[in-house]
Amino acid sequence: MSASIPGTSVLSIKVSRFSPDLAFWTVLASWGGPWNRGAIESELVLPGTQLVTAEQDGSYFGYLLMRAAGEFAEIFYLCTDPAQRQRGVATALLGKCCAEARSNGAQRLVLEVRTGNQAAIALYRKHGFAVTLVKQRYYADGEDALLMVKEIGTVGKDL
Ligand SMILES: CC(C)(COP(=O)(O)OP(=O)(O)OC[C@H]1O[C@@H](n2cnc3c(N)ncnc32)[C@H](O)[C@@H]1OP(=O)(O)O)[C@@H](O)C(=O)NCCC(=O)NCCS
Repeated sequence: MSASIPGTSVLSIKVSRFSPDLAFWTVLASWGGPWNRGAIESELVLPGTQLVTAEQDGSYFGYLLMRAAGEFAEIFYLCTDPAQRQRGVATALLGKCCAEARSNGAQRLVLEVRTGNQAAIALYRKHGFAVTLVKQRYYADGEDALLMVKEIGTVGKDL
């Protein structure tokens, strides 16, 4: 799958069930976020877990970690290169995630997001996720989590 980022060459979106290459782990730490190599690799050994990556000209621009199991597919984490934000990278990753979830028979995509993460909440709302629950003091620092769900059904457009 590929997607276009305005003014640049084609963004390549790939899905893998295996550990990525060294270049991925090298940039991962620089992007920040709670997920590290050990955490991602320990998820990838579990059935149904997939790593969706966005690459362009040999560089990683973002990733999404997901698991599709039965009716629900879950997004564990989504992160894009801070230097490439608000250019459609996360949107392209979400589109591929929806397609993968649907092809694995999922009816709904679910995720948790911090209530203070306005950029991510805006992204998810824009792409059809709705808040279904507030998990109070869900995170270790006491912040609440929003449980957001997108109905994906068995047919239709990915995003
Ligand atoms: C949230 C995140 C993944 C968005 O990635 P991105 O590649 O910039 O997203 P996109 O370019 O596809 O943005 C699509 C839409 O999301 C929303 N959005 C993205 N960044 C935003 C921001 N900083 N402020 C407000 N809305 C934002 C907008 O609605 C945007 O549409 P628009 O460009 O037409 O306004 C990115 O900021 C990130 O990696 N943040 C750190 C990690 C994180 O918080 N992950 C989510 C954990 S649940």
